[in-house]
Amino acid sequence: MQLSPSTKFDNTLGVTRILVDNPFAQASVSLYGGHVLSFCPKSDGRERLWLSKQAVLDGSKAIRGGIPVCWPWFSDSHGQDDVSLPAHGYLRTQTWQLISSQDHHDHTELKLVPAATQGPGFSYEAEVSLVIKIGQTMSIDLHTHNPGPQPFAITCALHTYFAISDIRSVELKGIEGQYKDKTRNWQVSETPAPYRFSEETDRVHHCKSEQVTIHTEGDITKVGSTGHDSLVVWNPWQEKSVTMGDMEDSGYQTMVCVETAVTDGFTLAPGTEHHLIQTIA
Ligand code: BG6
Repeated sequence: MQLSPSTKFDNTLGVTRILVDNPFAQASVSLYGGHVLSFCPKSDGRERLWLSKQAVLDGSKAIRGGIPVCWPWFSDSHGQDDVSLPAHGYLRTQTWQLISSQDHHDHTELKLVPAATQGPGFSYEAEVSLVIKIGQTMSIDLHTHNPGPQPFAITCALHTYFAISDIRSVELKGIEGQYKDKTRNWQVSETPAPYRFSEETDRVHHCKSEQVTIHTEGDITKVGSTGHDSLVVWNPWQEKSVTMGDMEDSGYQTMVCVETAVTDGFTLAPGTEHHLIQTIA
């Protein structure tokens, strides 16, 4: 496979990264996890993604920050009542392979595939790929195809950590309807307006909104979503940050996760496919 002129490999951080530097943006993607670590458009030079200063980058645990890929389940165990199954599935802790890299007139396109799609808790035939387009905006497409004879059901998410200047100044726009609150035993509540943050926040919004904006001290980050049935919003706040070894105690102040997610799940019949896409501007 030939690397495009805008693309190179780098091994200086522990994990192998694909570095993209084209006329529109700089970005980096870890092969471990098929995990986007950074995206910085040249139009404003503002990094859109948050990466923990204490992220573990030796391939021994999922990377804290960037865009973890959650598949074949979102959250704990896909309703299988098996606590040994890894949270958010197992693709974020696999080594992926870059199978193509191409420069186009307005973006660079990378295509990655995971080492294997079967693992504990999921034994169906499935093909997964991630297509990342890096231009003035970035899009990331988690593609699932069922080439086998049996239908299978999955949940999944693009669990993006966005960089913000201060969580207390953030306002989210574009999410409405009801949400389930994990911090309150899944109590169902109406989405607040304005949507601001003052405590641990862990919410599954059953909202198919295709555009959410994150407003923070003059900056606006646009988050587009398609193929989802929900949007998940997460900030661990201080107490939980302190208990997390891969997040600095004050880390919660400069990140917010807005996740393009499938939490109800879908069934893929033989021969069918699904695209979960997030765009970031
Ligand atoms: C969110 C979940 O999507 O991910 C939270 O809603 C969870 O409950 C968070 O704490 C981080 O998960 P992890 O497995 O990366 O620590």
